[in-house]
Amino acid sequence: MAEDLSIVKGDKTAEYQSIIPQIKALVTGEPDLIANLANTVGALKEQFNWFWVGFYLVKGDELVLAPFQGPVACTRIKKGRGVCGTSWAEAKTLIVPDVEAFPGHIACSSLSKSEIVVPVIRNGVVIGVLDVDSELLNHFDETDQQFLEEIVASLDFGA
Ligand code: SME
Repeated sequence: MAEDLSIVKGDKTAEYQSIIPQIKALVTGEPDLIANLANTVGALKEQFNWFWVGFYLVKGDELVLAPFQGPVACTRIKKGRGVCGTSWAEAKTLIVPDVEAFPGHIACSSLSKSEIVVPVIRNGVVIGVLDVDSELLNHFDETDQQFLEEIVASLDFGA
């Protein structure tokens, strides 16, 4: 497809409903995982202009940084550490309205104030996470959870 995105502005649901089909079109027919993760976070960054959005992939006993948009970030996160490692350990989405109130939060940037982490689960096993950070407190809610989980479920991780 053409590489230009159509960026619709509106409420959160309308924005997800606009960008999700475009993400699906971008990744459909492309077998390379890194390319698809890169375009997914690129599209999300263009649509929402979040502070940071990116993937970490499980490698051995750690999450390792994968395609992202935003400032440089921590490269490796142990299982159970921080919001990402906790989402991995608990195999569930975590919405953190105030990162400073989350025990063990890993501050890759002091500018990040709230966060949502969605695990990538295949065959009952967490193989990565999608992490989104905002400079605003309390930025993420169940609408983000619903649509980000839909995006994560639609991607082909080859596993
Ligand atoms: N804050 C995350 C670490 C990753 S960065 O925010 C990109 C955490 O606590 O797991």
